[in-house]
Amino acid sequence: MSLSWLKKYNLVIFEKIDSTNSEAIRLAKAGVSGDYIIWSESQTAGRGRAGRSWSSESGNLYFSLLLDRGITLEKQPQLSFVVAVALYDTIDFLAKKDKIPLPLGLKWPNDLLVNNKKLAGMLLESLTLYGKNYLIIGLGVNVKLTPKDIDKPVTSLVEEGVYILDNSTLLDTFMNYFQKYFAIWRNKGFMRIRESWLAKAYNLNEMVVIDDGKNKISGEFKDIDANGNIRIKLADGRVQSLSTGEVFFGKKLDG
Ligand code: BTN
Repeated sequence: MSLSWLKKYNLVIFEKIDSTNSEAIRLAKAGVSGDYIIWSESQTAGRGRAGRSWSSESGNLYFSLLLDRGITLEKQPQLSFVVAVALYDTIDFLAKKDKIPLPLGLKWPNDLLVNNKKLAGMLLESLTLYGKNYLIIGLGVNVKLTPKDIDKPVTSLVEEGVYILDNSTLLDTFMNYFQKYFAIWRNKGFMRIRESWLAKAYNLNEMVVIDDGKNKISGEFKDIDANGNIRIKLADGRVQSLSTGEVFFGKKLDG
């Protein structure tokens, strides 16, 4: 472990909490300054994207980053891509150390998959208080347990044959990669992160369906734009950018 990141972050550890994202929001509302990592062994009310719950038994990794760096609301979504590439490298590094090269891929906007099965997800939330922009990024990684209550393919590191002795190793490795990619984002800009993200993305140039909750749009997944929106080439040749939605691979719309 290098733990050098600990000099820059306040680390708060819980055995059990409702949700590390909710705790981050409470800390921000209490007016804290500086960056925090909130890590809990289990959560009683873990939250996922689109109002879903996130199964949070002890065994998997649950933590949130609370960033107090004055990142403008417009730029905040870019950070989910910074986190995604850092998480990809973390799992890739630890799996290769175990001599198990996993076929990892990033799914827009911010899931990490192994063979099309979800291994990790993240939830971005933002808060403007006392004139400050806080950014909260919560990460859930299936380390030892594969959640059963999910209607899509999921997996865990143990299921894929990767045994990480301690979740702190995973957190430490992630933080080192996060620091690296955060510096690239700050010094060289989002386009460098975009490049790394695209190199790790699943199903580029293939057919996808995007469900934004109201409409389903089908097209070829071209890339992401300078704001992190997904760009889809429609049947009539037009390219459309979408800022939210759930991506489904290899499906066609009925009718
Ligand atoms: C998703 O739906 O893919 C996002 C899942 C995010 C889960 C993590 S676990 C740690 C943090 N605390 C929460 O309540 N949610 C996030």
